[in-house]
This record gives sequence, structure tokens and C-alpha cells, in this order.
Amino acid sequence: MRVLLALLVLPAATLAQTGSDPPAGLRFTAEQIESGRAQFHRTCAQCHGRNMVNSGTTIYDLRKFPVDDPERFKHSVTEGKGNMPSFKEALTPEQVSVLWAYVGTRGGKELQ
Ligand code: HEC
Repeated sequence: MRVLLALLVLPAATLAQTGSDPPAGLRFTAEQIESGRAQFHRTCAQCHGRNMVNSGTTIYDLRKFPVDDPERFKHSVTEGKGNMPSFKEALTPEQVSVLWAYVGTRGGKELQ
């Protein structure tokens, strides 16, 4: 399973170099998205809202995050941005990847 996960996550990480992979965000398993959903509600929903629903006035509306930009997502989450803290210490790269599976598919709505 660990190997499988690494294989699925790798294309998103190498997208910038290869340029030939299909758009990121459409290559996740339902299991990864569900895992990301659970992680999101443990660590992100208190600010970003349940199921990513918030007013978007002071806190970024994640339903609008560009689904073709996994690098920006990973960078913002690990380094922090504005009033959002860094999650570098709190989350493993695998946890950030499943969070991207969730956010990058609009909560699974754009899984194909
Ligand atoms: C303490 C409240 C808080 C928590 C917890 C939080 N965020 Fe944020 N998040 C923010 C705020 C505020 C912004 C807007 C930052 C800005 O642009 O100034 C933001 C912005 C973002 C952005 C957009 C950054 C960009 O590139 O523009 C992403 C992606 C994001 N958050 C993901 C997450 C994820 C995933 C989690 C859970 C691991 C999380 N956030 C937890 C407050 C929070």
C-alpha cells in the first residue's frame, strides 16, 4: 500500500519537470480522498469550514483553490501563509498529499 501511494503521489510532485502527465487532481483513489477528508476535518476545518464551506472573506475559500497547482498547495500548507500557521511539524508529506487529494478534487467531486 505504501508503495502504491508513493506511485500515485509521484506524478503530481514531478509534474513541473515532466510536463507530460495528465492534470493533477484527477488521479487519486477514493481511499486517498476519504483519508484527506478525515485529515482536513481534524486539522483544517476549524478555520476553513466543514466540507470547505466558509464565507471566504477573511479565510481563503478552498473550493476556489486552483486544482492544477499542487506545488502551491503543498508550499502554502508546509510553510504557512499570512495568518495560516505552518504545518511542517504537524503533518507528514503523506498527510499533506492526501489533503491535496481532497482539496484538489473539490472534496471528491472532480474525481474521474
Ligand atoms: C488558524 C486558521 C487556519 C488553519 C488551521 C488552516 N488554515 Fe489554511 N488559511 C488560513 C488563512 C487565514 C488563509 C489565507 C492566507 C493568506 O492568503 O493570507 C489560508 C489559506 C490557505 C490556502 C491558500 C494559500 C494560497 O496559496 O493562497 C490553502 C491551500 C490552505 N489554507 C490550506 C489549509 C490546509 C490544508 C489546512 C489544514 C492542514 C489549513 N489550511 C489550516 C487559515 C488557516
